[in-house]
Amino acid sequence: MDFLVKSSSVETLKTSTLVLTVNEQLQLDSQGQLIDTLCAGAISAVLEAGDIQGKLGQTLLLHNLANLKAQRVLLLGIGKDAELSDRSARKCITAILNILKNLSIKDAALAFADLRFKERDAYASARLVAECLADGLYVFDQFKSEKAPAIHLKKITFVCTAEQQHAVEKACKHGKAIASGMAFTRDLGNMPPNICHPRYLAEQAKHLAKAHKKLEIEVLEEKQLKELGAGALLAVAQGSEQPPRMIIMHYQGAKKSDQPYVLVGKGITFDSGGISLKPGAGMDEMKYDMSGAASVLGTFKTLLELDLAINVIGVLTCAENMPSGGATRPGDIVTTMSGQTVEILNTDAEGRLVLCDALTYVERFKPQAVINIATLTGACIVALGSNTSGLMGNNPELVASLLSAGTKASDVAWELPLFDDYQEQLDSPFADIANIGGPKAGTITAGCFLSRFTKEYPWAHLDIAGTAWISGGKEKGATGRPVPLLSQYLLDRAQ
Ligand code: BES
Ligand code: MN
Ligand code: ZN
Repeated sequence: MDFLVKSSSVETLKTSTLVLTVNEQLQLDSQGQLIDTLCAGAISAVLEAGDIQGKLGQTLLLHNLANLKAQRVLLLGIGKDAELSDRSARKCITAILNILKNLSIKDAALAFADLRFKERDAYASARLVAECLADGLYVFDQFKSEKAPAIHLKKITFVCTAEQQHAVEKACKHGKAIASGMAFTRDLGNMPPNICHPRYLAEQAKHLAKAHKKLEIEVLEEKQLKELGAGALLAVAQGSEQPPRMIIMHYQGAKKSDQPYVLVGKGITFDSGGISLKPGAGMDEMKYDMSGAASVLGTFKTLLELDLAINVIGVLTCAENMPSGGATRPGDIVTTMSGQTVEILNTDAEGRLVLCDALTYVERFKPQAVINIATLTGACIVALGSNTSGLMGNNPELVASLLSAGTKASDVAWELPLFDDYQEQLDSPFADIANIGGPKAGTITAGCFLSRFTKEYPWAHLDIAGTAWISGGKEKGATGRPVPLLSQYLLDRAQ
């Protein structure tokens, strides 16, 4: 999808479809009024006739309006509020896409210069629109014999004021780059686990690096992982035929001496639970247990597209969690890269095991901050649902910047506490730490486990079990989150 920004008058714009807004008071905005005047009140006549009520997300397509350069006008209802919330804005974009993608048109134009969004300036408003438009056209049909109908729509023009022009251009560029990172993340999450295994993720990282000279990739295989003492990662992988990989991506956008930001993603390409086997129903969805790693890859795609002037290191810690005669048992004790020993009481709490070694590994980079991203706990879905990622950390400033990045990017997170009181749930009679706590506060005890390995740097943990994936239903699939949040965080650092 290409975005174009024009601040010329809406009356002179040649387009196949011009989108105009109408509210529940049946008012057009200033751009709409110009068009209405031009076609001798044809639009007000339609409004007076009561063909559209301006309800949020309502649409009406009008053809053959006299005197217009636009072939069609698409009226979009924006409801009764003076300002659109993110949720309402998304609803509107979905509604217009549902019309536009079924027309055999190549381009459309949005006359949104007067449209106001809650707590968003011209940049942030246009960014949300651009990102929703680009992401809304995502399809995953590579394993279908019959492909989804081709979408002809290739270009969308934002018709804005001269004052908005610069901000809207920047917003389109950023929105497009974020949506392309999300699409990459969604593809990887949707990919079947027989194809998307740890070596496949390594190949994906290498592909990215091939096209960009600021990116270099290092892939650690079993032998090197053994030498490094990555006992926890290796323990998770030992039940599977698929060998583990630790993939390190170095992006150098600033001078070498600048301390990097580090993103660490959980890359369990299938989580059967291991010997602590999961129930069968819905187990297919555990292919998305690599969404943390996929979100790091997606964020790198965005980062490369925007060519940000910072240094970022991405680490994907990848394995498959399977039961077999070689798998770890409940009761096994392993030694992590940090030297701390872990009693594996539940082999299904494997995410923290693959993460802890990666979190020790990244100490060598002297990071400014480390953010790990993981589909870590079902308890996070219980606590926060599917729209809010769980956030924990050891540094209030870092946590605050991530919360604010989430709000700006409309990809929200909420903090959960890592109070010391929770730590004792991880006591083990036989090893330094147990890999599970009790039945209470499962998301927090998982965070507590990680906190034992992150004392050397400012650290935050995003639990995306609820937000990375839509379960069941016809919308089933990867969402591309939290690429917007992470990209925003990096954009904010690069400024
Ligand atoms: N990958 C799962 C977490 C998960 C569960 C994500 C459901 C999305 C949907 C993780 O590895 C896991 O199995 N966690 C266990 C932890 C428990 C054994 C302490 C869980 O949440 O049940
Ligand atoms: Mn698990
Ligand atoms: Zn898992």
